[in-house]
Amino acid sequence: MTERLSPDEGGIARAAALLRAGETVAFPTETVYGLGADATDARAVAAIFAAKGRPRFNPLIAHYARAEAAFADVVATPLAAALAEAFWPGPLTLVLPRREGSRVADLVSAGLSALAVRVPAHPLARALLAAAARPIAAPSANRSGHVSPTSAAHVLAELEGRIAAVIDGGACPVGVESTVLDLSGAAPRLLRPGGVSVEALAPLTGPLARAAGDAALLSPGLLKSHYAPTLPLRRDAVRIAGNEALLAFGAPLAGAALVFQLSAEGDLDEAAARLFAGLRFLDAEGSARGLAGIAAMPVPEVGLGLAINDRLARAAYREAPASWEGGKSG
Ligand code: TXA
Ligand code: MG
Repeated sequence: MTERLSPDEGGIARAAALLRAGETVAFPTETVYGLGADATDARAVAAIFAAKGRPRFNPLIAHYARAEAAFADVVATPLAAALAEAFWPGPLTLVLPRREGSRVADLVSAGLSALAVRVPAHPLARALLAAAARPIAAPSANRSGHVSPTSAAHVLAELEGRIAAVIDGGACPVGVESTVLDLSGAAPRLLRPGGVSVEALAPLTGPLARAAGDAALLSPGLLKSHYAPTLPLRRDAVRIAGNEALLAFGAPLAGAALVFQLSAEGDLDEAAARLFAGLRFLDAEGSARGLAGIAAMPVPEVGLGLAINDRLARAAYREAPASWEGGKSG
């Protein structure tokens, strides 16, 4: 039902034609696979929410081939222009005031006055955006509340039959989602740590604190089932039980029933690229073997470690009000 498209000119042309016809197409970016639709077509954007089971109040990122096209839909500040110059194309998303007269559907920003924009670096994403010749709204291509996909197989495992097509571009090199920076207020706020580290941003932004209003961290309900594996996950493990699966970082703890190594050398970039595949593997294999849970070894809070720890914290979170469907960052 869902077309598999090859990562070549023919596949890109087919994907662009589907997008222009209002269909949903999953495609690789350098961070994770996105589920794309024509951002100027409210019906197409609505189909993203339907396919993912995503709450409509959770806004989407609009993706562009070039910074100039992005800044035609939002009002760029001098800082935004400098960040775009330094980090686009790349894993950085900027939240800026919508420009009046922008063709982007209100549903993309969930009715908010600020719109999230990004110019991705992956060559297939860039080719697709150029061929589609319009902004493409794209959340991560997973069912709402699940771990982001870093391969076409991950996408199909959750969205087969629910989306028109997927471009198979192999594994995503960065592996965690983009850094989301809110530039719509007086001072820049970090909404989500991601593929561009706060250390790399600091020369332009100054020191970045997590947004004080970041509901996803302040309100536990917003963490519910986000990036959630089926098996319970505990963090900062220093010893391991025989019925636990181990998410290792560096020299693995002895005695685990099952091990997935994020990076034997303790390399944070390698660990980020392997994180979601590792969570999926330990969850599926650990469940099949009847294991009690997943124990994650500590990861240092520097560089991409900030994004890794953020995703692990969300994966470890379990309780929340039953009324809440999906997470803030679905
Ligand atoms: O790396 C990525 O960012 C991937 C690839 C496909 O580009 N996309 C992605 O999208 O992770 P999504 O929808 O899974 O996460 C986007 C995050 C959410 O936490 C959403 O709430 C936030 O960005 N966001 C989007 N628009 C926003 C806005 N106008 N104001 C505040 N937050 C916004
Ligand atoms: Mg997501």
